[in-house]
Amino acid sequence: MDKNTITVTSPLLPNLDEFNAMLKEIWASKWITNNGQFHKQLEKALAEYLKVPYISLFTNGTLPLLTALQALRITGEVITTPYSFVATTHSIWWNGCKPVFVDIEEETCGIDPNKIEAAITPKTTAIMPVHCYGKPVKMKQIQEIADKYGLKVIYDAAHAFGVEVDGESVLKAGDMSTLSFHATKVYNTLEGGALVCHDEKTKQRIDYLKNFGFAGETEVVAPGINSKVDEVRSAYGLLNLKQVDQAIANRQKVANRYREALRNVPGIRFFDDMLGVRHNYSYFPIFINAEEYGMTRDDLYVKMKEANVLGRRYFYPLISTFSTYRGLHSAAPDNLPIATRLANEVICLPMHHELCKEDVNRVIELIINNR
Ligand SMILES: Cc1ncc(COP(=O)(O)O)c(C=O)c1O
Repeated sequence: MDKNTITVTSPLLPNLDEFNAMLKEIWASKWITNNGQFHKQLEKALAEYLKVPYISLFTNGTLPLLTALQALRITGEVITTPYSFVATTHSIWWNGCKPVFVDIEEETCGIDPNKIEAAITPKTTAIMPVHCYGKPVKMKQIQEIADKYGLKVIYDAAHAFGVEVDGESVLKAGDMSTLSFHATKVYNTLEGGALVCHDEKTKQRIDYLKNFGFAGETEVVAPGINSKVDEVRSAYGLLNLKQVDQAIANRQKVANRYREALRNVPGIRFFDDMLGVRHNYSYFPIFINAEEYGMTRDDLYVKMKEANVLGRRYFYPLISTFSTYRGLHSAAPDNLPIATRLANEVICLPMHHELCKEDVNRVIELIINNR
């Protein structure tokens, strides 16, 4: 990669000396996985940071989705959105359930609560909304519908690390929420993830499920999987947690600079902060109206690439267009008009904690002068 390349993201890395010191401790203890001391410390520290009572670490952000559906014994049909990373819908499929796509709302890129009821059938057992880009969806309205029809709600909160509404973590909504700690995320443990639940008994079940279903040395209580996080990643996670607030503050500055510079550019739309929300600035999506901007999204994407500025078209193509899902009745584009349009308009601009002023200005100039 050219050294002038501006990447869409850059991983938050712990201080290497501090990490080495922790590695020495791990080497000395010879306890490298299976609920070691750093694993326990990280679960506790994350629960405190995220203001949630129960959290279980996972090896990535896909396995908590799979496990949440298992833990809640979800069957039949699960309502979700196609404007997400494929793992959301794949987790439903891998559990032998049928995904039912509902359109998103333009305001949040999350599920449109007004369209959920029309998608409910006697086979529906759960709703899996996504806090896309870390923007909170309409949790109150979703819960009212879930309560009315006796449905479970599992939030894919992969993007919503640290996001709060009126001082309350979004991870407290619904029955469970999942997180991804992938290298590209605001907070990473190299690879990693977590599942948040609201009571001790459920955490116990989740912890059995992520350890093959073992409930003791010889007893297996469920068809579990292996998603145990090792000590090396736990140590790394503890160190990264110390610097995540600063990383979010740096990201906020980048977001504000983008907003200031792009606000009056015709044909470009972006999100402002939502009232009462603590955002994490995990992504900075812009939406291009080709007619007003004078260039299509894809032309801008290519021009940026040629100038070594790597935007990403999250989330294009829609999950509902992939071969596994496109035959589903709910995957028809006319069922998903907003998602279909936004998938064709979006580019996520470079956004990370180390993005310097000069680089941000280079991105902005490219967008403003490119037309
Ligand atoms: C919305 C969403 N859900 C789930 C995942 C899966 O997370 P992971 O890549 O950690 O398995 C991702 C991540 O990349 C994501 O963006």
